Amino acid sequence: MTFVDAPAKARRTPGVIPLHGAEGFEGMRKAGALAARALDILSEYVEPGVPTATIDKVAYEFARDNGAVPATIFYKGFRHSLCTSINHVVCHGIPDDRALREGDIVNVDLTLVVDGWHGDSSRMYPVGEISRKAERLIEVTYASLAAGIEAAKPGNTTGDIGHAIQTLAEGERMSVVRDFVGHGLGKLFHDEPNILHFGKPGTGVPLKPGMIFTIEPMINLGRPDVKILSDGWTAVTRDRTLSAQCEHSIGITETGNEVFTLSPGGLFNPLAVRAA
Ligand code: MF3
Ligand code: CO
Ligand code: CO
Repeated sequence: MTFVDAPAKARRTPGVIPLHGAEGFEGMRKAGALAARALDILSEYVEPGVPTATIDKVAYEFARDNGAVPATIFYKGFRHSLCTSINHVVCHGIPDDRALREGDIVNVDLTLVVDGWHGDSSRMYPVGEISRKAERLIEVTYASLAAGIEAAKPGNTTGDIGHAIQTLAEGERMSVVRDFVGHGLGKLFHDEPNILHFGKPGTGVPLKPGMIFTIEPMINLGRPDVKILSDGWTAVTRDRTLSAQCEHSIGITETGNEVFTLSPGGLFNPLAVRAA
């Protein structure tokens, strides 16, 4: 594996990890903040009776009005501004006219491009009252992301991040999805390195200041196996048990990391908000 200065790299090259400077961090701060603000606003729309297509439309208009572009529009044939993944949908759910129902849990995953930089974040939204087991799943998913972020610092490796997430989730007798990973990002939506949400300490790629990537664990109540529906996008749990995900975009600093997608309203973990 090699490291290069980010501006020298226009396309994803396997094994080549860009290291970003001050300009990249400034760009990611802006893009991340806007994506986080959009996700805050969307929490007002996640209600029983609201179709996910409405949430998609609100995000599209928010991006347009704020000089941003949703990265997923026309991304590999995806036509929407965000992904909405309900209940046993693991990720990449396609917004449509089906109305949300009381008791659903939905992940909204939004990437906004600002001045070429990609701010990628997702959160869980409970629809009305949800079951105790859905609450537990969401809490464990947030705790696993927090554990991953805690491990993201110079001196550690990508494997340390995965190990922290896996240890936390499996300690609660839940499972980590293997089929999707976090990813480097910046001027590219998906770049090196891959961030596995499971792994062994000290394995993988050493973390260095200037690396920018997402951590986005998908945690299942049942088994980790997923399948893709015939639409070519929607990933669901094979055993149809509930799945949850949350995602931040972060940059490695000299001393630890900077999270670019913090919620300005403190709304990132919806259950912490409800409890307050
Ligand atoms: N935002 C997703 C991620 O976290 C990618 C979605 S790609 C799509 O990487 F095409 F499904 F929207
Ligand atoms: Co995302
Ligand atoms: Co992502």
